[in-house]
Amino acid sequence: MSNTMAHLDPNAVTLQESRLHTGKKLKVGIIGTGWIADEHIRQYLEMDDVEIVAAADLVEGKAAAFLKKWNVEGARSYPDHTSLLENEELDAVSVCTYNATHAECTIAALNKGVNVLLEKPMCVTLEEAVEIIKAEKASGKVLSIGFQPRFDPNMQMIKKIVESGELGDIYYIQTGGGRRRGIPTPFGTSFIQKDTAGVGALGDIGCYSLDMVLNAIGYPKPLTVTGYRSNFFGKDPNYFTVEGRPAEYAELFGVDDFAAAFIRLEGGIILDFRIAWAMNLDTPGDTIIMGKKGSLRIPSTDCWNGSVGGAMTVYRDVSGQGVEYKVPIIEYKGKGLFYDKIRSFLDAVQTGGEAPIPSSQILYNQAIIDGIVKSAELGREVEIDIPTV
Ligand SMILES: NC(=O)c1ccc[n+]([C@@H]2O[C@H](COP(=O)([O-])OP(=O)(O)OC[C@H]3O[C@@H](n4cnc5c(N)ncnc54)[C@H](O)[C@@H]3O)[C@@H](O)[C@H]2O)c1
Repeated sequence: MSNTMAHLDPNAVTLQESRLHTGKKLKVGIIGTGWIADEHIRQYLEMDDVEIVAAADLVEGKAAAFLKKWNVEGARSYPDHTSLLENEELDAVSVCTYNATHAECTIAALNKGVNVLLEKPMCVTLEEAVEIIKAEKASGKVLSIGFQPRFDPNMQMIKKIVESGELGDIYYIQTGGGRRRGIPTPFGTSFIQKDTAGVGALGDIGCYSLDMVLNAIGYPKPLTVTGYRSNFFGKDPNYFTVEGRPAEYAELFGVDDFAAAFIRLEGGIILDFRIAWAMNLDTPGDTIIMGKKGSLRIPSTDCWNGSVGGAMTVYRDVSGQGVEYKVPIIEYKGKGLFYDKIRSFLDAVQTGGEAPIPSSQILYNQAIIDGIVKSAELGREVEIDIPTV
């Protein structure tokens, strides 16, 4: 079993944890104290080798209120990531800011020699992703990207099925999903404004669909993309008033609520992708992985969050006879996907091991998102040119 797979196995995570605690407490800071930061601190506070020492947020008083809410005595609050990094000696940070500041916060932390757990999507553009990886390489620190569905045993099963050879060589994949109504604005507009989110459904939930299949097939390099993005729901004031939100959100809406793309991957594999925060449809389709010997159907979830929506089906040909069998949903028995994502990151920090979800893989995920944006703007296919880092 590879090092990466050991991290992805929830049982392995538990074993490693008991082996690793050396008594040294890791000093951890949290950059960005919005919705997802609660999930991070909740897990950190469960871990006896972690001390939360500081938090930062651009909104006045928000980081202090966050630390108070979680009863973290003695921890300091800062008005931005720069002041936090200048004033604290840290082992690790969680970057929990909105997408548009992922790159600057991550690069600043790595430049200070701090290990980083970065929330998904990696960032907004391919150029930013390349700069992040340059900083990571120069620092020699651990950078892991926050795709917690990787720790779901059903997700791991998709990869195991592909790697078993049961499907043969893969040549076509359809992935994506979506929500009938689900533009994420319950806590404000940071997901729908261009200056904070950068991209919409494409980056927010699209990155999960891409990771589901690209991780399964070993993250081949993306070569070309024809992309499309629209915003018909987000630009409609009625959409928001029906949802009990201000009609003005439609004016602020500066990203996509639907995206689709046709992507060519190295190895002659075609990736057909679609993702929606809102649509007049239940689902834009299940994820399917077609191989020369067999295919796999992965049911979409109702409210797409990057996971498996039900028992998967394998389709095979046995002596000229079409055969199908179900892969039942596997019960997750760990401490939680967020716990695993943070624990596996800290285990890598403690041991100097490989990042459980490495930037070298997610670079390709980001390159596809970036390619879709560029192709949609130009209205034609574009080549995906990924600089060597
Ligand atoms: N893994 C998951 O399941 C999951 C779920 C939700 C959100 N996310 C990701 O987490 C990120 C944050 O989402 P959220 O819902 O918490 O957003 P949010 O808007 O509620 O919070 C982001 C916070 O970051 C702060 N911030 C921005 N730049 C900063 C900087 N330079 N220094 C300090 N603070 C800064 C903002 O002021 C804001 O309070 C997004 O990238 C999102 O995609 C991941």
